[in-house]
Amino acid sequence: MKLPVLAINFKTYRQATGQNAVRLARICAKEAAKSRKQVIVGVQAPDIFPVSKAVSIPVFAQHVDGIAYGKNTGHILPEAVRQNGAKGTFLNHAEHKLDHKILKATIKACRKAGLTTIVFAANKKEAAKIAGFNPDFVAVEPPELIGTGISVSSTKPEVISSSVAAVRKVKKVPVLCGAGISKGTDVARAIELGAKGAAVASAITTSKNPGAVVRELIRAM
Ligand code: G3P
Repeated sequence: MKLPVLAINFKTYRQATGQNAVRLARICAKEAAKSRKQVIVGVQAPDIFPVSKAVSIPVFAQHVDGIAYGKNTGHILPEAVRQNGAKGTFLNHAEHKLDHKILKATIKACRKAGLTTIVFAANKKEAAKIAGFNPDFVAVEPPELIGTGISVSSTKPEVISSSVAAVRKVKKVPVLCGAGISKGTDVARAIELGAKGAAVASAITTSKNPGAVVRELIRAM
């Protein structure tokens, strides 16, 4: 995947669910096409198929389970999201934490299924540990800033720079950052601090003009 990357997490916001997910993904894709920057959208499992049909930017699942074909009622099979159009998945988000042993196995299952993994970490210690699990990206997000509009890059810049340094000591994995990012200056600062992109949710999903927000964030990359 081209760097830097803007990962837009739709979570379970009403404005980013079902038909609204398709509509918002189209807006994100339009801005991505105009700028030729790398933008991905992380959607709920039931929205992977319709969103993948509607846009050509990479669509990610928000979670999958580290299971194989067979007897796993109610689980999300990596191969199933791949077949429905997902190019990758988020894992271990602060809102869907995994036991590290399970996480390691899930990353492996995703690799086998051909899914790119963006694995979330709460701090530099967890980021470094996860880097050792061979993900494609590590994304550091201080949980207390998520959804606050108070950006990690302005409030806790050391979380980004120290995570980048800690990950680099373990493996050459690009580090993204997120939590509270809402302005172009937040993204620009994150990149100055060594991040290879940003993960954003509420600033876009709750905006009356999400296209304008996406445009501003992309321009700063
Ligand atoms: O994955 C991105 C997300 O957790 C950040 O959320 O609403 O602070 O941009 P938000």
